[in-house]
Formats: sequence, C-alpha cells, structure tokens
Amino acid sequence: MKEKKTEEARLPRHVAVIMDGNGRWAKKRLLPRSAGHKAGVKRMLSLVDQMFRRGVKYVTLYALSAENLARPQEELNELFSLLRAYFAENVQKLKAQEIRLSVIGNRSLLPTDIVQAIEAGERDTLNCGKGRLILAIAYGGRQEIVRAVNAAVAAGKQVTAEAFSALLNTAEIPDPDLMIRTGRETRISNFLLWQAAYTELYFSEKMFPEFSEKDLDAALRDYASRERRFGRVKE
Ligand code: FPP
Repeated sequence: MKEKKTEEARLPRHVAVIMDGNGRWAKKRLLPRSAGHKAGVKRMLSLVDQMFRRGVKYVTLYALSAENLARPQEELNELFSLLRAYFAENVQKLKAQEIRLSVIGNRSLLPTDIVQAIEAGERDTLNCGKGRLILAIAYGGRQEIVRAVNAAVAAGKQVTAEAFSALLNTAEIPDPDLMIRTGRETRISNFLLWQAAYTELYFSEKMFPEFSEKDLDAALRDYASRERRFGRVKE
C-alpha cells in the first residue's frame, strides 16, 4: 500500500536543534551572557513541549558541545548550574508526560554531581514510551565517531554502516529527519555528524531565545514541503 501523504506523514519523527545565539541575544540587550543562557533554557522548555504536542517522537538538543568546555570557567559554571536546575526541576515532569530522557556525549568531562543527575534522570524515565528527549552534553560528533571506531578495533571486527551506527551514543535512536539551527550561522558544528547524513537542514535568522512557536511551525512547514530522496530518483 502506498503511504498516504497526510500532514502526520510529513511531520519529522526526529528533530535535532542547535540552540545558538543566546550570547548575542543578551549582548544586544546589554545583558550578561548568563542572561542569554537563562532565556535559552526558558525557550528550550516550551519548544520541547511544542514539538512533542505536535507529534514529534524524538527531540535532540545540543545543550553543550565538547568544544564549549573550553569557554571561560565563569560561563561554564553558569551553564553547569542551569543543567543542575534542569535535572532537578524537569525529570519528574518528563516522567509524568511519559517522555524518556537520554544524554549523549562524554560524561567523563562533566562534574560528578551532574553525571549522577544524568544517570538518575535516565533511570527514572527508562520505561517511558511516548517520546524521547535526548540532550547532547559535552558532545562532539567527531569524538563520538572516534570512540565507536576504537570500540570496533578493540572488538577486532570490521563493521557495516548499520553495525557502526549501533556503536554510537545514538544506537536505537533513528537518525534526525530535521535539524534546526538558530542564530544565523549555517554550519553543523560537530553535531550528529554521522547521523545527519540525510537530515534536512533548516537555518533560522532568529537568536535562540526569540525562536517562537510560529518559527517552529515555519520550520515544520518547510520540512513538509521538501522531497526526501535519500540519493535515489523519484518514483
Ligand atoms: C549557544 O549560544 C548555546 C550554548 C552554548 C548553550 C545552549 C544551552 C542552553 C540553552 C542551556 C543549557 C541547556 C539545558 C538543558 C539546561 P552561544 O552562547 O554560543 O550564543 P552566541 O553564539 O550568540 O555567543
């Protein structure tokens, strides 16, 4: 049976977001960068809600890149505080909404209490099946690929593309259909490099704190209008 082209069928199952522009949003308002990150978290909370309400099943957010860890300690401390507050205030809400929380990235680079909060959050929501929220924290796409290569080498095995995917942090998570980047930059910045091979990219001029629900709908409409061929010719 041919798939019906309903709105539902055109909705991305997995949306990944690069939440860029918090610092510039704050600077424009003569505020410290920390105010931009706070505004970013506020926007992130409602954006996640809006996506799951529309029927998106997987949402991956670039919360902190491995490269971001080289930022000044003061800014890092602020980002870590926001992460601590996020886990303390949101895990039970996600559980109530039946959303499973997962974290990808190199946790050994994070403070111990944050690693514990991540583990508790993942454990508490393990059986939630309505949707999945994936936070990329201390994450780098190249680093993830190198870890997987080393795992394959250590196992003494040659891999297929499928077997290699299973060695990544995102094993069992489908590749993103749509990747949104706010903040006017048009690059991927080491996010989901392997997984984004056929992802539709959408770049927004808006800084992340001002990326509104309307902007989300514009991105989803744009996605729905695209023809995905995965390298094949149209039937
Ligand atoms: C990029 O903006 C954004 C980040 C480095 C961090 C994004 C993080 C959050 C929104 C908050 C943390 C997440 C959670 C889950 C609590 P930028 O600072 O690079 O902005 P700029 O490019 O304008 O300087």
